[in-house]
Amino acid sequence: MSVRIAPSILSADFSRLADDIAMCVDGGADWIHIDVMDGCFVPNLTFGAKVIETVRHLTTLPLDVHLMVVEPEKYFDTFAHAGADVITIHQEVSPHLHRQLGRIHELDRRAGVAINPATPVEALRDVARDLDLLLIMSVNPGFGGQSFIEPSIDRIARARAMLNVAGSSAVLEVDGGIARSTIERCWRAGADTFVAGNAIFSAPDPKGEIAALRTLCMERA
Ligand code: DX5
Ligand code: ZN
Repeated sequence: MSVRIAPSILSADFSRLADDIAMCVDGGADWIHIDVMDGCFVPNLTFGAKVIETVRHLTTLPLDVHLMVVEPEKYFDTFAHAGADVITIHQEVSPHLHRQLGRIHELDRRAGVAINPATPVEALRDVARDLDLLLIMSVNPGFGGQSFIEPSIDRIARARAMLNVAGSSAVLEVDGGIARSTIERCWRAGADTFVAGNAIFSAPDPKGEIAALRTLCMERA
């Protein structure tokens, strides 16, 4: 199973965003993770289409756009046009998941669903085959730099089993508190894609940190 490392630009230095994106590319990042927050679903505000478009011009890496917003379908067209490759919405604010995933696919983008730490993994069982990505939140969404919530390991394992039973080839991503101390256990539980903000951008050697996180998984591969 391949390992993807997706640095979250929530922790980047926005006064030198181009340098930080170049660092991610040079460091071997697989995806760039972009956290869109609306101050309603989560108690923080971040960025929208303009920043996605800016990052799109800075790299050819896939842009993994994580929507922490209510009524996410309002933004599908704009964000797809701005350059999002993966569009992930939250189960907790998406009562018409089947329709919403279908709309993302109509736009020819990969469709993901994220679940908060308190949302049962099983809530996604009946759409498992419609998913290109399942995102297990290992912190309560809203901010970078929070501590990893330990029961997330068991949730990853249950999500992996559920995807296998459904015959789904969806990416299994984990987001929040990913660092050297947590990534290996997430990998062993079945995750293949790892978002990391603080661990990478606050490291003395951010490029080396991307490699170090990957190595911790690959040693067990
Ligand atoms: C949190 C965001 C994350 C955040 C992760 O709500 O979804 O993507 O950037 O940051 P770290 O890796 O610092 O926990
Ligand atoms: Zn995120």
